[in-house]
Amino acid sequence: MQVIRKIKEMQASSDRLRREGKSIGLVPTMGYLHEGHLSLVRKAKALSNAVVVSIFVNPTQFGPGEDFEKYPRDEEEDRTKLEAEGVDFLLIPEAREMYPSGYQTYVEVTEVAKGLCGDFRPGHFRGVATVVAKFFNIVKPHIAVFGEKDYQQLLVIKRMVEDLNFDIEIISGTLIREEDGIAMSSRNAYLSPENRRKATILYRSLKEGKTSFESGERRTFALCKTVKESLESVGEISIQYVEIRDAETLEKIEIVNGPAVIAVAAIVGGVRLIDNIIIVREEKPFCYL
Ligand code: PAF
Repeated sequence: MQVIRKIKEMQASSDRLRREGKSIGLVPTMGYLHEGHLSLVRKAKALSNAVVVSIFVNPTQFGPGEDFEKYPRDEEEDRTKLEAEGVDFLLIPEAREMYPSGYQTYVEVTEVAKGLCGDFRPGHFRGVATVVAKFFNIVKPHIAVFGEKDYQQLLVIKRMVEDLNFDIEIISGTLIREEDGIAMSSRNAYLSPENRRKATILYRSLKEGKTSFESGERRTFALCKTVKESLESVGEISIQYVEIRDAETLEKIEIVNGPAVIAVAAIVGGVRLIDNIIIVREEKPFCYL
């Protein structure tokens, strides 16, 4: 695995790969890698000839008072994990090269970035869209893989790619859970054992919502009420939102009669956690080869 820290060097390597007719798969990350990230890496490997993983704790997607400084970092361990997966390039750019002094260009996806996490983390998706657009220009991938754990982020990126005509296919990777049901996240490292136990309620409450849907309930307010009541059954959890949205557009819906996702965000022991469950997936047209 080649470790690259300079933007020009990555661009030159990508140009060379493209000249050789190789397809490039990108997995953008902020490091502190877990099985969820590695499942995205495996997907990229299966779908491209050369895999690039980027590690960059992107300052523009953190708001004031958020955890930019204390975001967990472990470059050595990440390198070992990526080597073991057979990753071709690890890109670790420097913040001063990504955002040199005088930097003033940002990408803003308007509607999809509104509501849900967009309400609680102003400017977050602007930072995400900007850094991902930069990585697309630096790595020049044919495909890029993003996890469904950050469901709104996935749709923001898909919208940006469509709107700005990036010639890149966005691939989604399913959400990977720990044995206790908690969605894998680098931020789980912040949870004390007691808060970690409490945090398992997020997935349990989402499953209750899904069960209610499967038993015939279609009204989103009733489904959300089930999820909220379940979350509230554990004390000391502060709910930011419980919402059911169209799983393709992220528009608000009142009745579930198509692709839909239940999304939650809550603070457990001072740690902000998000999770989601897809209750109806989009039916992909069947393709005979
Ligand atoms: O999901 C993440 O880890 C980050 O938001 C991303 C996509 C790497 C952009 O910084």
